[in-house]
Amino acid sequence: MKRTLGVCYYPEHWPEAQWADDAQRMADLGLTWVRIGEFAWKRMEPREGEYQWEWLDRAIDTLGAAGLKVVLGTPTATPPKWVCKKHPDMFARDAQGHVRGYGSRRHYCFSHQGFLEECRRIVRVMAERYGRNANIAAWQTDNEYGCHDTVLSYSDAAQTRFREWLRAQFPGQGNDGDIDALNAAWGNVFWSMDYDDFDEIGLPNLTVTEANPAHVHAFRRFASDEVVAFNQAQVEIIRTYSDAPIAHNYMGRVTEFDHFKVGADLDIASWDSYPLGFLEDRVGADAAHQRAYVQQGDPDFQAFHHDLYRAVGKGRWWIMEQQPGPVNWAPYNPSPLPGMVRLWTWEAFAHGAEAVCYFRWRQAPFAQEQMHAGLLRPDSVEAEAFGEAREVMVELADAPEVAPAQAPVAILFDYDADWAWSVQPHGAGLSYFGLVFDWYRACRKLGLSVDIVPPDTRDFAGYNLVLAPGMMHMPDDLKGALQASEVEVIIGPRTAARDDGFNIPVPLPPAWPGSDLTVSRVQSMRPDLPVPLVGGGFVTGYLEQVEGGGDVLLTTDAGAPVAVRCGPNVTYVAGWGDDAAHMRVIEAVAPDLAAERMPEGVRRRDTGTERFWFNYSNRTVQIEDRELPAAGVLRLAR
Ligand code: GAL
Repeated sequence: MKRTLGVCYYPEHWPEAQWADDAQRMADLGLTWVRIGEFAWKRMEPREGEYQWEWLDRAIDTLGAAGLKVVLGTPTATPPKWVCKKHPDMFARDAQGHVRGYGSRRHYCFSHQGFLEECRRIVRVMAERYGRNANIAAWQTDNEYGCHDTVLSYSDAAQTRFREWLRAQFPGQGNDGDIDALNAAWGNVFWSMDYDDFDEIGLPNLTVTEANPAHVHAFRRFASDEVVAFNQAQVEIIRTYSDAPIAHNYMGRVTEFDHFKVGADLDIASWDSYPLGFLEDRVGADAAHQRAYVQQGDPDFQAFHHDLYRAVGKGRWWIMEQQPGPVNWAPYNPSPLPGMVRLWTWEAFAHGAEAVCYFRWRQAPFAQEQMHAGLLRPDSVEAEAFGEAREVMVELADAPEVAPAQAPVAILFDYDADWAWSVQPHGAGLSYFGLVFDWYRACRKLGLSVDIVPPDTRDFAGYNLVLAPGMMHMPDDLKGALQASEVEVIIGPRTAARDDGFNIPVPLPPAWPGSDLTVSRVQSMRPDLPVPLVGGGFVTGYLEQVEGGGDVLLTTDAGAPVAVRCGPNVTYVAGWGDDAAHMRVIEAVAPDLAAERMPEGVRRRDTGTERFWFNYSNRTVQIEDRELPAAGVLRLAR
């Protein structure tokens, strides 16, 4: 498949007289895709039932006439004021009970059924009008579910729906649930929390001290299901009127809903990649790391999401928004190093992206994102990224196809485990995402390509190494499949530490089939007191005490086992290691992987036919007898 480029465009932001020229410039640059529409509800329907589609018809015609393919977004992330006035209780409430009100975007609660009906209506009218329009080549539902912390809502609507959801989880006689079963499952005998009726159950906020973790975890599962249902409602309607593929644009490090479940209803996964914003805002790295990569972005964060969304999209995935220059929303917003926009684009292609779309065509001189660069400056002169996009276009013309291939390493990623860790982190700053990302980074520092796979994966054929760190509830059939796979498997810490109802299972974790390895005590630790390991590396944050098991591969200086065999092909790691510790475990258990320690800041990615190197560092490095400058990309046949 030919890889393509595109751009995000807002015709409603610019005088109509400018559209044709914009479209021609996009086409001249070689762009294929233009995404429009996702925030334009007020222009589509200024007042209830009063639709104005003519401007959008003309915009789509103009773009189509220039040869561009349109990705049409449903506008449900920005309900206009009249919708909010009609449904004054449609806003989400934060955990403190404050209304998250009008004046920006994503100001809705996923559980509000009146708002959902408004969404169904606008999506239906849109899909009826544009479903068979030859210029509409794909759809996008809403915009970045969960961005700005918008999944969890403590509204009345959420409370009503949560009770219904719980009744279905604990079915009883007739329409009512079995409240005794819920009490038993949650352990409500503790602190006299037993309920007599589902209608007594509140949301797990505004409690004096922590709420019951089983209650909170159930709420997290519920909130995720609400996003899945919200998206499904739009998808069902669009499919009635259109055969074009449907995507959603996920946001980096948003884990409050299960992207695999949303993705199951879609044709394409896409995500919005802002490497410099993320480095400052959500990678979670220390200040030295942030300084080293300030103009390049974290060397693993983008790749992690590429590999995640390849799985979410069942192979089909895009970058819907690619950072083109300084953004407006992170604590600091530097310019990318020259060449980085090109590097980010090629890295996405090397991980299998079908398309990369830049955000946005022209910098807006008004409103919230004035300080956000585009391909063009506000005066329509080309900004720096324009030239880099052009360079990629030229390169794409002669580049061989990127051939997809299974990676040697698989990492299981389980949103449910992320919620479990956040419900019960046991130590400040400890997160499932952080743990999995650290293991991912260790693989990449060893030059290994990785597939991220969903938690319902049971077939591990073709992998040399599978990692499932921190997956707090691990179903027995997954344990069995991993054991039977004969692939090397790394689990722990906290893998299988809870049952499905958030209780400590007995026999104690990890209860691995055929092994007596037992986690006998768990402790979290101050991040500034790392525990040294014999032979190098440290454990920080989390350290479990284990008994039993087989060969010990790694111990603390004090002699406590840290990596222990618990089956012919399985290693349990009883702590949160640093990169050095994780790399040592990988090298010890999978010597056949041909791992190779990468120079600082350099990462590589293997496809079916080629090997790519990406230089995220700010200096020239030697790769395969060549000089690879800062922000450089090297591509060689394998
Ligand atoms: C994304 C969003 C875009 C734009 C962009 C700015 O999160 O989808 O609409 O706001 O960030 O970086």
